[in-house]
Amino acid sequence: VADVQANGNGTSIIRRKITSLVGFSNLPAQHHRRSVRKGFDFNVMVVGESGLGKSTLVSTLFNMPLAPPRAAPYSSASAPKTVSIQSISSEIEEKGVKLRLTVVDTPGFGDLINNDDAWRPIVSNVEQRFDSFLEGENTYNRSKVTDSRIHACIYFIAPTGHSLKALDVEVMKKLHHRVNLIPVIAKSDIMSDEEITAFKARIRADLEHHKINIFETPRYELDSDKSMEEKTSIMSKIPFAIVGASSEITTPDGRIVRGRKYPWGIVEVDNEDHCDFVKLRAMLVQNFMEELKEYTDEVLYENYRAQKLIAMGVSQDQSVFKEISPSSKMEEERALQNARLQKMEAEMKMVFQQKVAEKEQKLKRSEDELFARHREMKQQLEKERRELESKLAQAELERHAMPEEKNTKKKFSLRS
Ligand code: GTP
Repeated sequence: VADVQANGNGTSIIRRKITSLVGFSNLPAQHHRRSVRKGFDFNVMVVGESGLGKSTLVSTLFNMPLAPPRAAPYSSASAPKTVSIQSISSEIEEKGVKLRLTVVDTPGFGDLINNDDAWRPIVSNVEQRFDSFLEGENTYNRSKVTDSRIHACIYFIAPTGHSLKALDVEVMKKLHHRVNLIPVIAKSDIMSDEEITAFKARIRADLEHHKINIFETPRYELDSDKSMEEKTSIMSKIPFAIVGASSEITTPDGRIVRGRKYPWGIVEVDNEDHCDFVKLRAMLVQNFMEELKEYTDEVLYENYRAQKLIAMGVSQDQSVFKEISPSSKMEEERALQNARLQKMEAEMKMVFQQKVAEKEQKLKRSEDELFARHREMKQQLEKERRELESKLAQAELERHAMPEEKNTKKKFSLRS
């Protein structure tokens, strides 16, 4: 059964309902099988001052200790001089689905005496990851490229109750074009509900004022398990007020929960009335992990790639920043490949010229040596010639002196 519709471009779309099964409706299942077999990569970066509970939160999220091993906490004497980047990868499995998780930590952030450049190592690490993916994409075996790009960056805001610090604003401004920013209020159990509500409102206003983009759940039509309602409820909680606790405790009513015990009661991590941990996990792991990866690949990475191409002198249509068509992507790749070839050619020329110069120098050196040897030999021969001549002259003198001597001897013998 065919139904022909004309669209605005003058072309016709033929919609057909087929009566017998062709089989491509099985594609999602095939895709699912392949993905499960290959496993998933997910790279998350945590940024925030030390002691805000980054390691605890990551362990709480993935239910196992995952933070990179750390030396003892800093003392004022051992305060770091730079922000370092540490990452730890682990493969975790849940119901037969494998997740290769990499946690990238930024120890030293916010702990320096001068934090002006604290963002630099972080941004450069994110960009290096884009660069190595770009390199990998241009190799002949691109299917083997591992995706080490940062898919989500959890930014920890100290529970001050005031507003964002200048350092928070600066770092988020540097990061938001490169990563999916997810701001969280750390250790929110130290604040009351009213304080949290007011603090969240101030943070949201600050983010808007400084035009800092944070990750948003997608605007397109969501499937059943990602209902619009759920999406709205997740977004309404940003910045997530979180509490981290990886150990389990027993509540007075006998339940075993993950939480923190205080003299006045228990704060339960997985209880939505106590904190926003459940919403953060829903956004990061349960419902929108694919969208985080998709946005990283299609927007953040593509923008970086486009900027890089422009910096290399390859002009392109600005619309590429939003939507990348396969043909323009191929065009870019070709341009990138040409730029690479040109660079290689220039490098080869340089090496060739260098080699020729070296050879010329070597020849010149051996020529000089030959001349020197020749001059030396000539001088030696000249010396020998002079010696022979002087010997000859001496012999000549002796030969002339000889007859006289003989005569004298004769006279002497006659007289005697
Ligand atoms: P660095 O490793 O120095 O960067 O610290 P971090 O940010 O990884 O903090 P970590 O997870 O080591 O936690 C520091 C301290 O805060 C520990 O004593 C944790 O038990 C505690 N802590 C972690 N999360 C929370 C929380 O949500 N609320 C409260 N009150 N304390 C927390």
